[in-house]
Amino acid sequence: MSEPQVMDLVTYPDPFLNLPTRPVTAEELSAGTAGEWNLAELVERMKTTMYASEGVGLAAPQVRVGLRLFVSDPSKEKTGFFAIFNPVLDNMVGSDLDEEGCLSIPGVRAKVKRYKSLRCSGLDLKGQPISFDCRDLLARICQHENDHLDGILFTSKIGMTARYSAAKRLGELEEEYREAQAALKKKAKK
Ligand code: NI
Repeated sequence: MSEPQVMDLVTYPDPFLNLPTRPVTAEELSAGTAGEWNLAELVERMKTTMYASEGVGLAAPQVRVGLRLFVSDPSKEKTGFFAIFNPVLDNMVGSDLDEEGCLSIPGVRAKVKRYKSLRCSGLDLKGQPISFDCRDLLARICQHENDHLDGILFTSKIGMTARYSAAKRLGELEEEYREAQAALKKKAKK
């Protein structure tokens, strides 16, 4: 297999990021394909994209794929990679306020309140059930990425003060998006 290609990141305020995603079926997992996607290849490309962007997590909608799937590696040494389909979070306990960022919202970081610990369950690439208990950073990642699968961005969960600080950068991203859309339209007319 050739080196997996880095995928384009979908960035704020692209409306794709606000769409809910659909579960991958057991049949799709056993066939290894969902729609146009070879699932093993998709996971490899998401992994490559996440590492290339120095992220600790990446959800399928961030690469314009509407499936319930995210990948993550909370380790600094790139030794903790995993991919999970149809994740479900439960056993949420405690609360923790810490700074978050998102590869789809470059340049914005803000404190977000999350559960401190939880259990994350789902399916692996082979369709086998996986489940793990986690806390702190990994619990935060699971909540952030699972939100992506429901079309929710972390900026909708930040306080008023943080929202005020982020407003300028969000405005810039909105402007960049409008310009890119206008350029695409122009190109399509030619
Ligand atoms: Ni994100």
